[in-house]
Amino acid sequence: MQEVTSIPRLRAWREAQRAASRRVGFVPTMGHLHEGHLALVDEARRRTDTVALSIFVNPLQFGPQEDLGRYPRDLPHDRRLSEARGVELLFVPSVETMYPPGTEIRVAAGDTAERWEGAARPGHFTGVLTVVAKLFHLVEPDVVCFGQKDIQQVTLVRRMLRDLDWPIELAIVPTVRDADGLALSSRNAYLSGAEREQATALSRGLLAARGAWRAGERSAGALEATVRASLDAAPVRAEYIAVVDPDGLRPVTTAVSGTIIALAARIGRTRLIDNVILE
Ligand code: PAJ
Repeated sequence: MQEVTSIPRLRAWREAQRAASRRVGFVPTMGHLHEGHLALVDEARRRTDTVALSIFVNPLQFGPQEDLGRYPRDLPHDRRLSEARGVELLFVPSVETMYPPGTEIRVAAGDTAERWEGAARPGHFTGVLTVVAKLFHLVEPDVVCFGQKDIQQVTLVRRMLRDLDWPIELAIVPTVRDADGLALSSRNAYLSGAEREQATALSRGLLAARGAWRAGERSAGALEATVRASLDAAPVRAEYIAVVDPDGLRPVTTAVSGTIIALAARIGRTRLIDNVILE
């Protein structure tokens, strides 16, 4: 595995792949890697000849009250896992490399970014799309892999690729969960034992709603109520429970195949998100 921090070194690696006619897969991350990230690496390896993974805690996507300062970081651990999983190029740029003084252009997200996570985190998706666009230009991947866990993020990346006519193939990888159902997330590291127990209500609620869907329930209101009942029992208060269409993430009244149920909840100081796709 090669590790690079500078843009010229990254571009040189990219040129070498092109010269060897190797298709490049790319997995952008903020590090503190876990099996969820590594499932993206596996998928990228299945689809391409070589995989690049970036680790960059992107300040642009954190609000002023958010956890940028305490976001978990462990580069030696990330190096070990990346190498063991077959990553060939690790890109670890500094903030100065990604945002030299004077940088001002941003990728503005549209309506789809105003709802749900975007409503709770103003500017978040502009920060995400800006860094993702920069990374795509730097790595010039053939295939990129994103997790279903961040469903609004991957929906916006799909729209960006479409709206900007960007010939990159997008793979969406199903959410990897712990044995107790909790979706793996770097932010789970913030949870105390008791909070973690409470947090399992998120996946329990979503899986209960998926069970109801499979049993024939099609009312979005009833599906939402099923999720809410699990959260109330924990007790966990949801910031939102959204039953939405997959393209624009707009609320629906009747669920169909492809409808998404997404939620966010704050447990102690930690904000968690999760979702299921009904199919
Ligand atoms: P990060 O939270 O590190 O996540 C990197 C990628 O891993 C995202 O595509 C995310 O959806 C995926 N992922 C996280 N947990 C997962 C899980 N349990 N199962 C499957 N995939 C999972 O998302 C970001 O970083 C940033 O916003 C980024 C795209 C890197 C831009 O800064």
